[in-house]
Amino acid sequence: MSTNGKKGFIDVLVGLQWGDEGKGKNIDELLSSGIYSGVARFQGGANAGHTLKFGNTEFIGHIVPSGCLREGVELYVGNGVVVDIVSLVKEIKELKNLGFDVENRLYISNRAKLVTALHPFLDKAEEAYRSKDGEKIGTTSRGIGPTYSDSRARRGLLIGDILFSDFNQKEENLAKIHMDFLKMYQREAGFEIPNEKIMEMKEKWQEALALVKKLKICDLSSLLQKRLAEGKNILAEGAQGIMLDIDYGDYPNVTSSNTLPANVSLGLGVSHRTIRDIYGVIKAYTTKVGGGDFPARIKDKEVEKLFQDAGHEFGATTGRSRMCGWLDLVALKYAIGLSGANKIFVNKADICPTDKIKVVTEYLENGKMMKEFPLRLNQVTDVTTEEMAGWGGANYGISKKENVSPALSLYLDYIKNKLTDFGVEIVSVGTGPDREHTISWN
Ligand code: GDP
Ligand code: IMO
Ligand code: MG
Repeated sequence: MSTNGKKGFIDVLVGLQWGDEGKGKNIDELLSSGIYSGVARFQGGANAGHTLKFGNTEFIGHIVPSGCLREGVELYVGNGVVVDIVSLVKEIKELKNLGFDVENRLYISNRAKLVTALHPFLDKAEEAYRSKDGEKIGTTSRGIGPTYSDSRARRGLLIGDILFSDFNQKEENLAKIHMDFLKMYQREAGFEIPNEKIMEMKEKWQEALALVKKLKICDLSSLLQKRLAEGKNILAEGAQGIMLDIDYGDYPNVTSSNTLPANVSLGLGVSHRTIRDIYGVIKAYTTKVGGGDFPARIKDKEVEKLFQDAGHEFGATTGRSRMCGWLDLVALKYAIGLSGANKIFVNKADICPTDKIKVVTEYLENGKMMKEFPLRLNQVTDVTTEEMAGWGGANYGISKKENVSPALSLYLDYIKNKLTDFGVEIVSVGTGPDREHTISWN
């Protein structure tokens, strides 16, 4: 099996906040080293929106891994992913229009979960139902929760099922259950979807299905093991962020998958012993989209708006505006501890539209200052912050460490010092959205 006697490894990259840290850009950046032969998504689905940009080329990947703009890099969609085939087909077409043919290097696990035509409607219906009690999660409406629920309830469909002759029957059976659920939500929450909308979606979905049948649907676990045995290295691309993990986030304001690197092994079908480095991505501040509490949120609405505008903080998947907060060290330390991240990317270091920048160091919970992340964020009534000088627009687009403004340098040193106990190093600092807008921090 092994051609050179040396086994390959997997490096993992995950977001350490609430998503949208700039993971797509960093995957693309890591690929420039030439040491990875493929990029693999291991969890989540089209709730992800990973932006890639160089020059006039811009692409937002929801299902297609962020190695798509690097010719020759294999792209893997693991069994842990819930696959929205309509989005997948759209992305493949978009990439073709940009001059990137990915079909011949895209491999989808036959065990990946299939998002059906009705899952996104169910997602919306469940949100309407939760809204009755004011407990909306603010999902991306991509059918993520319902698809993972069906998987766990052992009635879901796998991507590999689409190649079997009993598929239509299985799909019909599941659709019946979904229609019953939708009727229940209509009764209980007044959630109604016009029949034409369902028909329209079903048609689009069937068209996508015909195209997906022609893609490389395979036993991805075996393929990855083979690649590793050949001495090839793979990059596992996390979606969402550690703070949205189903088990360790602020439940229920989380996504429906495990976003931790621990899930790489399960979501790809490879041993955890193949994992080498864990890259953790943060923004220099914090953002969050959707519902749930956000203790680090900037209290002054005008200041929050300054960050939103300067950082273009609008969702890559839903277009919703993202709430902005200060860098939250309580949450960050929790995320580093859970993920085992040893190398850190700091993005959006060019965004500082204020004279001062703050960092959250403690939460006030039940009248006590706490440095530990609580079970429920709604118990946090205030936070302690430390304040430093800001740097304005000074660092936009720079790529050399010697050109970094003194205030940003101090800020990055401050972060590094606060994380000393974790033995992490900052490896790269982002100064803009483009592939070139990055400073190697070694
Ligand atoms: P992801 O989901 O973690 O891949 O991140 P998104 O693509 O959803 O959001 C990150 C946004 O920030 C995108 O619009 C990127 O183009 C942009 N971006 C990434 N890094 C930087 C950076 O260092 N500075 C600035 N100004 N924008 C960045
Ligand atoms: P990337 O990979 C930011 C949030 C949603 C919502 C919660 C649950 O681009 O960083 P879901 O649709 O998953 O059931 O929604 O999770 N969310 C994200 N927020 N970035 C993401 O992905 C997200 N994916 C889901 O806003 O609060
Ligand atoms: Mg995103």
